[in-house]
Amino acid sequence: MRLLLLFGAAIICLLPDVQSAIVPPNALNLRLTTNTSHVIPPTLYGYMWEDINHSGDGGLYAELLQNRAFQGVIPGTQNALNAWQPYNGAFLSVTSKTKGVSDALPNSLQVRIPKVVNGPIGFENTGFWGIKVQQGWTYKGSFYAKSDTFTGKVAVSLKSIQGTVFASHTVGGVSKDWKKFTFEFQPITSAPNDENVFNVVVDGKAAAGKIIHFGMFSLFPPTFRGRENGMRIDLAEALAATRPSVWRFPGGNNIEGHSIDQRWKWNQTIGRLEDRPGRIGDWGYPDTDGLGLLEYLNWAEDLEAEPILGIWSGISVANYSDFGTWPVVPEQDLQPYINEALEEIEFIIGDAKTTKGGKLRASLGRAEPYNLRFIEIGNEDQFQPASYAAYRWKAFVDAIGAKYPRLEFLATTLPSTALDPPYRRIDFHMYNSPSWFTTNAFMFDNYPRNGTMYFIGEYAVTSTNDTSALGDIPSGRLAYPTLQGAAAEAAFMTGLERNSDVVFAAAYAPSFQHIRNYQWTPDIITYDASRVVKSTSYYVQQMFSLNRGTHVLKTSPASTADSVPLFWVASYNNETSTVFLKVSNTGTADLVANIVLDFRITGFVTATSISSPSLSPISGLFNVSNTIDEPEQIIPVANSFAIPLPDRFNYTFPATSVTVISMQTSNLGSF
Ligand code: AHR
Repeated sequence: MRLLLLFGAAIICLLPDVQSAIVPPNALNLRLTTNTSHVIPPTLYGYMWEDINHSGDGGLYAELLQNRAFQGVIPGTQNALNAWQPYNGAFLSVTSKTKGVSDALPNSLQVRIPKVVNGPIGFENTGFWGIKVQQGWTYKGSFYAKSDTFTGKVAVSLKSIQGTVFASHTVGGVSKDWKKFTFEFQPITSAPNDENVFNVVVDGKAAAGKIIHFGMFSLFPPTFRGRENGMRIDLAEALAATRPSVWRFPGGNNIEGHSIDQRWKWNQTIGRLEDRPGRIGDWGYPDTDGLGLLEYLNWAEDLEAEPILGIWSGISVANYSDFGTWPVVPEQDLQPYINEALEEIEFIIGDAKTTKGGKLRASLGRAEPYNLRFIEIGNEDQFQPASYAAYRWKAFVDAIGAKYPRLEFLATTLPSTALDPPYRRIDFHMYNSPSWFTTNAFMFDNYPRNGTMYFIGEYAVTSTNDTSALGDIPSGRLAYPTLQGAAAEAAFMTGLERNSDVVFAAAYAPSFQHIRNYQWTPDIITYDASRVVKSTSYYVQQMFSLNRGTHVLKTSPASTADSVPLFWVASYNNETSTVFLKVSNTGTADLVANIVLDFRITGFVTATSISSPSLSPISGLFNVSNTIDEPEQIIPVANSFAIPLPDRFNYTFPATSVTVISMQTSNLGSF
């Protein structure tokens, strides 16, 4: 009998034996020694973040209203009213002809009420493809309104599209000048689904024939750790539960802009929401920048993750498939952008009393400088390598390094694109098939140990090995991470951990995907307005991240033989005296290992794994995914067992599985 543990819950049940005392003849002999090869950097596992797939607006950022301030839209176009719809015959348009609620937000909603109206009239916001209505939650909202002629009341509510009202509030006092109205309400019951809207109405008789302007709406549910302007709780908790230790932001392509002027500008993402103009992000939708620089830094602190700050490096992504069209800032024009980076860094780490940036930060409520060690110059500059090598990299590093000698810089191109010291850190991006990841699981084994350190700043299995099997998924991409992909990522990650003397960090990308509107697949977490799907890749990240050693332990053999699709890395945590053995079986047959230890285990062994649901009716079991409709096809299962001898046991690694075995030992030594 074994103890079966699901994450968070424990049940006792009978499991088929995966370990025994008898060594089968075909078992792989794997010896775990007490020799360490190197210290594992605490930054090894984490994520790259940018607003893509509505990962920020409509995702992690808890704001419920889409297109809340008409940012980045062109008045008069169809798109300007995205997510807004009339209610009971009002005429809606977005205008910049009347002064907006702030200089940063010139657009507002003009609502024209017909001369003859019956009952309440107004408009609705459909949220980010629905709104979650939860009994017991307090929703906090606000909006601006003004009218030359209307002075009546405005009623706001959360309703189902069929008209059931869950929560409502009424305000009064509309006048000629913009006025901010705030409100709170609590739904009397939860809605059965997400097909709900935020409804705003005035009395038809009182408003007949009049024009009312509205601007800058907001509606928040409770947020992660109760932060104002904060994060959606379920998504934040899901990500935090993997305990990432690096957080690369704010892009990705989304830092770069479709043009130089559309780049991500740090100083337009701070301060009052009314002072953030937003921008058209690189992924085709307007970013509110409600999730701005301070929110990102606070989030990294919440995660206890090392921030890796991307700095705009003088290129924009005009057209992703035609690098030749990308605008590049000429050398003689670069200084203003270097100054922008210097100001951004001063804002993050400058002294609150003696620096302009630090004072600004303190005025926004944060006196203490943030932790910042890593600056990445650009994103994927291998697409414009000549100017990066000729002047862009050097200009930024020289200027920032002169002022902040303690900062460390990451380049985004291969060494062969000619970068000189002092760069010692390089970011590689890897999106490929499972077989690519397994083939390259050993790529860092033979990298020179010459001081250069590597960051895998984006990686994911993005296709199957056989793209013809993918049916209607565009560009041969996976819709969701698969078990096969997750096992291949895990195989690759054993190589990263084994070589973590040269690989100091790795960041899975992209992180989030709103299932109703996305630009990139697959992603580690998928969601809609109320549901969350943790993918097989998510669980691999979680298993690797939660089971961290302080030192890599040498094994014999060091890594797998060519013909055996078993990949592993062993580590020891000298704070908890735990040995971890992370193993990926990327094959389609179970594999038995005879695990021999140069040390003794004191207590139970625990094996946590994801593997194919053996009773699943799905064909192609190894390409199985957790999906929005079937989110828990594959979840980690942990089983603890006593072993017959204290220094050896057999373990069967199921076909296409990822397993972390943890073993409690007495202290292995003083390292
Ligand atoms: O992660 C998606 C995109 O892939 C990133 O924005 C870009 O850096 C890479 O090409």
